[in-house]
Amino acid sequence: MLGALSLLALLLPAALVHAAPQADPSTAAVRAIFEAFHIPEDAHLTFAPTTLLGLTFPEPGAAPVVPFTSEQLPRNATAGPPRFALSDAHASVGRGPFVVAAVDLDAPTPQDPTSAQIRHFLGGDFVLHTGGALANTTPALTEFHQPTPPAGSDPHRYVFLVFKQPPGFAQQTLVNASTSIANFNISSFAEATGLGQPLGGTFIRVGPDPSS
Ligand SMILES: *[C@@H]1O[C@H](CO)[C@@H](O)[C@H](O)[C@H]1NC(C)=O
Ligand SMILES: *[C@@H]1O[C@H](CO)[C@@H](O)[C@H](O)[C@H]1NC(C)=O
Ligand SMILES: *[C@@H]1O[C@H](CO)[C@@H](O)[C@H](O)[C@H]1NC(C)=O
Repeated sequence: MLGALSLLALLLPAALVHAAPQADPSTAAVRAIFEAFHIPEDAHLTFAPTTLLGLTFPEPGAAPVVPFTSEQLPRNATAGPPRFALSDAHASVGRGPFVVAAVDLDAPTPQDPTSAQIRHFLGGDFVLHTGGALANTTPALTEFHQPTPPAGSDPHRYVFLVFKQPPGFAQQTLVNASTSIANFNISSFAEATGLGQPLGGTFIRVGPDPSS
């Protein structure tokens, strides 16, 4: 039985290679890393992924950054907006539509997350394209906000999740463009809108800018 730490050690060399897109090894590995970082309990979710959610940060004039799950990125690599993809999809996930959400579980600090969750992205109507790319066909409910942990904070966990979109999702009234992004609750939002549990996910860790 591979412990969480040896699992991370296996993944570490990938941190050195940002040039080529890379994928997480398996849904079982991603699930183990989510558990090692207490994400299911802190987000009040059941995380039993059947697909791998790919996350890519385009970098102007440089190779895109494709983090592995749990990787710590420098803040300036996370300007986004990120691109999403699905791979290793169990046939049952279908071709969409999907909802993608991103939340910060650790605002303002992991020790005292009084304003968590911060909703960093929420969008529906994502459909799967040939090759695995996900693209939305309608504007996001919450456009992407770059991670901005405050000076002095430990790194935050930014969790990206993909859900099957239920019929009628477009009619939800809990979140619109003027809804505060603070004190969001992805678990209660998923429950209220019929998203169910996530089909897949990934997360990155981002600390404050060295200059801040
Ligand atoms: C981020 O900042 C570091 C240090 O200033 C720099 O070396 C790196 O090139 C920057 N990366 C991006 C994507 O801007
Ligand atoms: C947006 O959602 C908020 C609740 O977050 C609600 O109070 C407000 O009326 C909504 N605005 C519109 C235009 O629907
Ligand atoms: C978020 O919602 C879940 C129910 O889905 C609840 O158990 C949990 O306490 C809520 N978290 C916060 C911080 O309100």
